[in-house]
Amino acid sequence: MGHTEAQAPGPGKAMAVRRYFGAIARRYDLANDILSFGVQRAWKRQAVRCLKLQPGARVADLCGGTGDLAILAAPRVAPHGRVYLIDFTREMLGVGREKAAATCGGHLIHPIQGDVLRLPLPDDRLDGVIVGFGVRNLADMAQGLREMHRVLKPGGRLVCLEFSHPTPAWFARLYELYSRFLIPLAGKIIAGNAQAYAYLTTSIRAFPTAPELAALLSELGFSRVTWVPLTRGIAVIHVGVKG
Ligand SMILES: C[S@@+](CC[C@H](N)C(=O)[O-])C[C@H]1O[C@@H](n2cnc3c(N)ncnc32)[C@H](O)[C@@H]1O
Repeated sequence: MGHTEAQAPGPGKAMAVRRYFGAIARRYDLANDILSFGVQRAWKRQAVRCLKLQPGARVADLCGGTGDLAILAAPRVAPHGRVYLIDFTREMLGVGREKAAATCGGHLIHPIQGDVLRLPLPDDRLDGVIVGFGVRNLADMAQGLREMHRVLKPGGRLVCLEFSHPTPAWFARLYELYSRFLIPLAGKIIAGNAQAYAYLTTSIRAFPTAPELAALLSELGFSRVTWVPLTRGIAVIHVGVKG
């Protein structure tokens, strides 16, 4: 399956995305740390802080994969809160489950193999939803965001951490070279799959800009939408509240 198929929205994209993440699951965390020079960990910590979690809160880490965000969220909702870790790729969730079991607060994490486009959660259930490097991979991003809105309680917060479009122009050009040539090569060496990492770079290029994503969130019913660029806009955190 070519990475062009993974670009087009629809069922073909979901299958390709599952196949990519299934293939790289065991090396996913290592590849992230190497390719981001470790910076992704700071981005994830900042994203979890944006949830403003209280003890006892119920939160979901969607497209949660190997569970980094769920693991960071769990101590913040202790002792009686709950973190749903939801992903449709069994291999990614398997790594997440193992990591959660070995972590303080891991018993508060409930892994669920499920589709973010049809969340297995009732309406108005959650205090927070976090999605890290996930919405770009959804076969229907607007539908996924509608589901996130549905499962949040009124006043609940959505935090979306995603790759974006860096500035200024000279830095964007440097990043373009890095992502076009080095990321697929490093993906092949570290995770044994150049195609999955070529998909990563083309999907980032095709992704909406930060103001475009903010406009979509407002259109879908989120209020007080804000965003913070990270590392010159390589990634962005969007926050929205269910009004
Ligand atoms: C780049 S990984 C992100 C993992 C984790 N959130 C992180 O920040 O490291 C994207 C994840 O989205 C999942 N995914 C994509 N589409 C999905 C869907 N419709 N439902 C559930 N999971 C999905 C993939 O299986 C993959 O594990």
